[in-house]
Amino acid sequence: MTLPVIVVHGGAGSWKDEKIPMGIEFVKKAAIAGFEVLERGGSALDAAEVCTAFMESCGKLNAGVGAARNSDGIRELDAMIVDGSTLDFGSVAAVVGVHNPISLARYIMEKTKHKFFAGTNALRVYAQMLSEEYRTEKAPGILNVNVENIAPETADTVGCVVVDSQGRIAATSSTGGVRNKMPGRVGDSPVMGAGAYANDVCGVAATGYGEHIMRVLLSRMVSLYVEQGTDVLDASKRGIQLLVEKTGSEAGVVAADVHANIGAATNAKAMPTAVIRGSVENISVMALKEDIETHFEQNL
Ligand code: GLY
Repeated sequence: MTLPVIVVHGGAGSWKDEKIPMGIEFVKKAAIAGFEVLERGGSALDAAEVCTAFMESCGKLNAGVGAARNSDGIRELDAMIVDGSTLDFGSVAAVVGVHNPISLARYIMEKTKHKFFAGTNALRVYAQMLSEEYRTEKAPGILNVNVENIAPETADTVGCVVVDSQGRIAATSSTGGVRNKMPGRVGDSPVMGAGAYANDVCGVAATGYGEHIMRVLLSRMVSLYVEQGTDVLDASKRGIQLLVEKTGSEAGVVAADVHANIGAATNAKAMPTAVIRGSVENISVMALKEDIETHFEQNL
C-alpha cells in the first residue's frame, strides 16, 4: 500500500498580493475534492480529473470557465490528463465552448484510438462524449458567452499530481494559456512531457510560459531526474534551474513519485499550492515562493 497524496497548483506567476488568498482557497478546495475521490476508492486518474475539473469550473483560475481570453476575446482552452500506470495520455488544444476540457481529454484517452485533438473538430468528439453521457456538463457552451474575465491577471495553468494507494500516478494540466494570445496559439499544457508527464515512477505538472516550457520538456525532465536517482524535491528544483539556464523564464512544477514523496519548485513570485498526504486532515497550503521552499524542505 502506498500513502495516497495529491499535490495541486493554481498557476505560477506574479500574483497580486490581494489575489493570493483566493488562489489558495481554490487549490485547497480542489485538493479536497480530488482526495475525497481517493477516499471513496477512486483511482489516481479519477481524483486528478475531479480535482482539475473543480479548478476549471470555479471561474477564478486560468482554466475552463475562468480562463484568459485570446486577442479575439475568446477562451481557447488546452488540457491534458496523463495516466502514469499505462503511460497513456489524452489532450485537447484550442477548444472553445468546453466546460471541462480535462474530461474531454480523458475521454479522448479512454474512448478514441487517438491521443490529441485540436480546434473545431475536437468539438465533434466533445459532442460524442456528451451524447454517450460519459460526462454530463451542466452548462456546455458557457465559454462562448461574454462573461467578465475574472481570472487572476497573471495566473497560468492549473494542474495536479496524484498518487493513489496502489501506487498509480496521474498528472494533469489545464489552461486558457497566455492572456491576449494569438488565436490558435497552443502552449505546453496539452503537450506530453512539457505541461505534464507521468509514468510508473514519477508524475509532474508544470506551469509557466508554454513557449519556454516546451523547449526543455520540463515535466519529462523532472521525471527523468527522479528516475535517475534524484529525490523529487531536488528534481523539481533542477527542472526549474534547467528552464532558467536555457530560456531565462519563470515557471513552477509540482511532482510526486511512486513512494508518495512530493516536491514543488518555482522561481515565480507565487504558485498557490495545496498538498494532502494520507488523509484529508493532513492538508497544507501555501503560495509564495519562499513558503513553498520552506514547506517542502521541512516535509520531505
Ligand atoms: N502554461 C500555459 C501556457 O503557456 O499556455
